[in-house]
Amino acid sequence: MKLYLDTGSAKEIREAASYGLLDGVTTNPSLVSKEGRDFTDLLKEICTIVDGPISAEVVSLEAEAMVKEGRELAKIHKNIVVKVPLIPEGLKATRQLSSEGIRVNVTLCFSPTQALLAAKAGAWCVSPFIGRLDDISSDGMELIRQILTIYENYAFSTLVLVASVRHPQHVVEAALAGGHICTMPFGIFQQLVKHPLTDIGLKKFLSDWEAKNQPKG
Ligand code: G3P
Repeated sequence: MKLYLDTGSAKEIREAASYGLLDGVTTNPSLVSKEGRDFTDLLKEICTIVDGPISAEVVSLEAEAMVKEGRELAKIHKNIVVKVPLIPEGLKATRQLSSEGIRVNVTLCFSPTQALLAAKAGAWCVSPFIGRLDDISSDGMELIRQILTIYENYAFSTLVLVASVRHPQHVVEAALAGGHICTMPFGIFQQLVKHPLTDIGLKKFLSDWEAKNQPKG
């Protein structure tokens, strides 16, 4: 499963990338707005840090304007994936941008029918928001399983990007379900490596080592 960071913070991306296993980045208008930076400059910087797909979202609501925005975003760097919302105009824009060879991430997906339409429109990936479904007492991970089954049934090449991840268990379940990509906030990315028994075990190894290897004198 590919691991992406869901952030607009270049600092966080740099830190996560230093682990050597960051596959890509997703941004959205909320995350980018928090940074208070020029969007194009931010995307250019992110593209220098990570050599993988970088999702950048359009903010227009009509297909023609989305396509125009998407073309401009795609010009910034070959790794830019244009993110469009899962509304009828977004599907029209997806069809057009995909036909021009521009990769599209269809976002704000909350149902299997929406995901089916995104795939039929030619999306490179679809982003189901599992945390926001869990928030309203729906089963976000069940949506992931349904989409994966539907895509497999019809051999769609559209990737399932598990988004709106709230804790490491979401990452575990995404991987068990066979999600292709999982994007997460930096805090969750950091949590993936942590285990108290690792820390306790390492402390003991080092104290045992030091006890027997003290310099004499
Ligand atoms: O970037 C899309 C998605 O991951 C947003 O997550 O936590 O705002 O529901 P969240």
